[in-house]
Amino acid sequence: MMTDITDFFIDEFRKKIGSADDAPRFYRPRPYRNAAVRFRKCSIEDFETRRDILVREAGLNVFLFRADMIPGCDLLSDSGTTTMTMEQWAAMMLGDEAYGSNEGYFELKDQIAETFGPDWVETGTASGGFSESLFLFHQGRAAENAFFTILARELREMPAPTPVLSGGLLPELRERIEARASALPGRKRSIDDSMFIIPSNSHFDTTQGNIEDKRMIPLNLPCREHLEGREDFPFRGNMDLDELENLLSTQKERVPLVYLTITNNTGGGQPVSMENILGIRRITKRHGVPFFFDACRFAENAWFIKRGEKEYAKKSIGEIVHAMFACVDGFHISLKKDGLVNMGGALVIRRGGAFYEKFPGIREGLTDYQIMAEGHPTYGGLPGRDLKAVAEGLRTIVRPDYLDARILQVRGFGARLSEIGIPVIKPVGGHAVYIDLDRFFGDGAVDGDFKGISFAALMLIAGHRVCELGVYAFGSYDGVRENPPVPRVNCIRAAVPRLAYEDRDLSSMVEAAGVLAEHRDRIPAVKVEYGRELSMRHFKSRFAFRK
Ligand SMILES: Cc1ncc(COP(=O)(O)O)c(C=O)c1O
Repeated sequence: MMTDITDFFIDEFRKKIGSADDAPRFYRPRPYRNAAVRFRKCSIEDFETRRDILVREAGLNVFLFRADMIPGCDLLSDSGTTTMTMEQWAAMMLGDEAYGSNEGYFELKDQIAETFGPDWVETGTASGGFSESLFLFHQGRAAENAFFTILARELREMPAPTPVLSGGLLPELRERIEARASALPGRKRSIDDSMFIIPSNSHFDTTQGNIEDKRMIPLNLPCREHLEGREDFPFRGNMDLDELENLLSTQKERVPLVYLTITNNTGGGQPVSMENILGIRRITKRHGVPFFFDACRFAENAWFIKRGEKEYAKKSIGEIVHAMFACVDGFHISLKKDGLVNMGGALVIRRGGAFYEKFPGIREGLTDYQIMAEGHPTYGGLPGRDLKAVAEGLRTIVRPDYLDARILQVRGFGARLSEIGIPVIKPVGGHAVYIDLDRFFGDGAVDGDFKGISFAALMLIAGHRVCELGVYAFGSYDGVRENPPVPRVNCIRAAVPRLAYEDRDLSSMVEAAGVLAEHRDRIPAVKVEYGRELSMRHFKSRFAFRK
């Protein structure tokens, strides 16, 4: 009798909680609770103070605004903004700060083998000395810089590819390559014999910057469904396989490797399907071109594969991660995202893989670079205690309860913006909500207005920080004319830090965005007061509202 009654109530409670699939349900508790909190130094009411700091000190550039004066959500980045777990803090207390071969290094190698697959690094008795495959850096872009610096050096030693953009290349690809070549920083702004092309679904801005700095051409090949804005398509981060096939069958000597960003940050934080990963694997293998991930948000991508591809529904996140990484010859990762730490990066190259086969000198070059720029290869610019925190972070990040809470929080946030009529890129990705500025402003904005910059500035006055990733961040100025990004990207990104905010914080941001939506015709244009012609200009520029 008693059991029947409690069974009845258990059923009722279960119905209330809903399933973990219900994105917009907010009453399912988080699978963790706050273990420490930080009180704000300022109040949401301090609008005028924020306006003064923003105008006078920061030149309307949200990157230059003091974080301690933000009372709401700081959604500038999900990178390095993680709240670490108690387990990570506890691991840090046990950090070993030996100069060479510290304890954390071995722990991290074991964890990399567990998280990404046993072949990636040496473990157990084979683990003495420093790794042939793992290169540690203080953050992702340092890994990118080392990689492209050493790769460019290796390529200079090899015969130059000919002929320049040989026949058979699709006209739209030729156009895209020439447009990127003409936007290269420096004196010579056209494609020449010695230039190499690095394709990706979409490169992140620092990856693009590092590639261009070595006078290589970053080429984005986002899938059709993404360009067409297909809201019903769950894997808008995919690469266009026909374009990749065309590029490699006509230019493969010009392509040292193919990249895939998982999830695709620049393209709206959209995931890539396993089907697409396997497709790229097939094409690159057939043409003998190595294949790498930019793996910053690998666990979030695996969550989407589990949810969106039937064959993987019953596999664990860990198994899916192994299957994804079995397809690539290497990856770089900013551990500030799915490493669940505040600082750290790595480059991992498969021993005996296609990349090492093609570029045998790269290992020595990378090790020397590390020693010159970061420190001994067994710590790579990171304190030993941080290596322990990364190892612990890589254990936590593949927990299904963590990933459910994380991604459903982001998607619920996107759903609330959408409900009040703010156009967001759909489906909402794993780490951020992207507001589509072209749809938000409609005919009320032209490219030179940079109203996205104003949107972000006004949000900051409201108390929340977001950033423009659009015609300003990804466009360029050649001294006469603005060149908007091709393919076009024009968004505000609201990136949600991991384990940091509650839904009510995000709801407060939604309400502020609602005020801007209601009065969107009053959002002013900006004039660029400094930095319009610079590379990576959105980090450095200063602006003023146009009257
Ligand atoms: C996809 C992607 N690649 C590379 C990076 C660079 O990593 P880091 O910020 O650690 O230098 C980022 C950072 O946001 C990113 O999102």
